[in-house]
Amino acid sequence: MDRVDLRGVAVFRGALDPEAQVRVLSDLRAVLAGAPLFRPETRRGRKMSVRMTSAGRVGWISDRRGYRYAARHPGGGAWPDIPQSLLALWDAHAGADRAPDTCLVNFYGEGARMGLHQDRDEADLSHPVLSLSLGDEALFRVGNVASGAPTESLWLRSGDLAVIGGAARLVHHGVDRIRFGSSSLLPDGGRVNVTLRVAT
Ligand code: SIN
Ligand code: MN
Repeated sequence: MDRVDLRGVAVFRGALDPEAQVRVLSDLRAVLAGAPLFRPETRRGRKMSVRMTSAGRVGWISDRRGYRYAARHPGGGAWPDIPQSLLALWDAHAGADRAPDTCLVNFYGEGARMGLHQDRDEADLSHPVLSLSLGDEALFRVGNVASGAPTESLWLRSGDLAVIGGAARLVHHGVDRIRFGSSSLLPDGGRVNVTLRVAT
């Protein structure tokens, strides 16, 4: 497995082989059946282009009250459990003494992107964020902990795993764009990104 370093973020190329990607995707379909994708709003009331949902004890939501982890889906239900396939990925790569309590599922359709941001809504930043890419390729941009610093980009491919941890835990990162239709993993195209974290 190739390992690429992107400003302290470790990217493991092809961490999941195509068969394992299909298995995770089928587990994620079950998550989506219990917790449908929704389009969060920013604090300013703008709809994000990425659709999201979560599994775990808490899930990440955003609305005019701000970003936070919540015990319930915006529709009112509890979040589904984190699939075993993803817990196993955490055990293999996170080097953490705790299991993740949240799994954010991002869906990028054609034209979706995510601006540069830090993942800092978690209570304990000593645990890494594990980020799995499935489906279409995405131009992933990573900067520094300080904003405004130079950035570097890399095309993430299906099966790649990024570990955002240690000194890089608070680096700015985002997705400039996806190459819609570049992968055949999702029958209708698009990209799924899954992040596992210890949030509470
Ligand atoms: C995120 O920062 O939550 C998503 C990153 C990605 O889609 O690769
Ligand atoms: Mn992030």
